[in-house]
Amino acid sequence: MFFDNFEVREQTLLTPEWVAKKTTFLDWDSQPSLFKHYPHFCYRTPLSDHPSLQWLMESRCITSEQMVAHKPYYRLNVPSAGNLQPIEIYVQIRNIAGLLSGLYHLEVLTQELVLITEIGAAGIEPYLELDHRFTGCIVMLSIVPFRSSWKYGLRAWRYLYLDLGHQIGVLSSSVRHFGLNLTKMFTQGTDALNRVMGMGEDERIVAVYGVGEKSTRLAKRLEEPVMSVQPTDYTMSETLLVDTIKVEPLYNEIPNSMKRDDFLALNRTRRSARGFNSNAMKDTDILALMRIKAHVSLEVIPILLQAHGMQLGLYRNGECTVNGNFNSEVVHLLLDQRFISGSNMVLLIYAVDFKAHSHIEAGMYAQEIYTVCEHLGVGCSGIGAFYDNIGSQWSNNPLLYAVAIGGKL
Ligand SMILES: Cc1cc2nc3c(=O)[nH]c(=O)nc-3n(C[C@H](O)[C@H](O)[C@H](O)COP(=O)(O)O)c2cc1C
Repeated sequence: MFFDNFEVREQTLLTPEWVAKKTTFLDWDSQPSLFKHYPHFCYRTPLSDHPSLQWLMESRCITSEQMVAHKPYYRLNVPSAGNLQPIEIYVQIRNIAGLLSGLYHLEVLTQELVLITEIGAAGIEPYLELDHRFTGCIVMLSIVPFRSSWKYGLRAWRYLYLDLGHQIGVLSSSVRHFGLNLTKMFTQGTDALNRVMGMGEDERIVAVYGVGEKSTRLAKRLEEPVMSVQPTDYTMSETLLVDTIKVEPLYNEIPNSMKRDDFLALNRTRRSARGFNSNAMKDTDILALMRIKAHVSLEVIPILLQAHGMQLGLYRNGECTVNGNFNSEVVHLLLDQRFISGSNMVLLIYAVDFKAHSHIEAGMYAQEIYTVCEHLGVGCSGIGAFYDNIGSQWSNNPLLYAVAIGGKL
């Protein structure tokens, strides 16, 4: 059994009653492992030994490590709801000097490529409607539902796709920075691809891109599934969540992220804001952020909470259409997260359709906002916790996500 889009929204709503009832505290000791680990006997090679793959290394990497309660606490270049990091990356590599052609897992913890299996004429191309071998890389992004549902239950469905959108956004920025392009990949259904890649019930490949080019040599279908490895040290499967994810078609849209010279620095320094200094943000930066285009599936409503000279209130197409101070309403909407009251602007991201792909597009847009904020020296944080029904006061569309933006402390 799986949910349709209407049921998913209904079953993942946050209401004041639900939040008030949820009095249990999480035991962080029981958090499932953040990084998938293939067996020690697999051949490994450090990504830093392969300069032509620097775009891959920069797509997903650890950018901060601290000890919290005697355990390492990692943060990555990609933001993630609750920092639960439910994404894994695989690459089929063909004809890249210095590397055996094969299927690899990107091991983020060690920044290594781990060889799952060598390939020859047979590869995953036929699963992606390609008759010919693809020279270079085919990048596959998977989601691991339990890493997120462990904390968020069924609402994790939303965060998995928002997180994925952030990851696709970073992948696209990284590839562009190095003068390369993403190629769209297609498939009728994702079952066969997932089976051959050894994905079990607890992980699903949901988006695929090429970085390379089609060759003239014919490709054969890799028939034998590769080894299967659990993505977490233990799992408690939320069947409804897993089954709902299974029926989702592959995502393959390419984000419209800008090529940035300072991408490498921004990618390594970016952090989600935990407080704001509203005086430190310029009105010109607010206007620049309002002008960033979102995917057509989305409706973005900026609410200006604090500024030097601009009118406060709700904006549409760069114009203030409803004047007023909405600080307390917006903070309440966003589950009364107090630090948001110090922000200059909150972008409310709605979608015409409440569906997985709109959530991915909301994540991609928010990732571009994160990058531009970091470029401008401004703070921001994605906000996935909100009371859905209160969000409806500003649009007839469902609210998917919000981004709070403000001067850095
Ligand atoms: C989909 C999504 C939802 C988030 N929701 C919230 C939120 O409601 N409140 C908050 O303070 N931070 C939120 N964050 C920010 C995360 O807490 C943050 O990304 C994570 O702790 C990792 O920290 P970093 O972004 O500094 O690396 C969200 C991030 C994402 C991607």
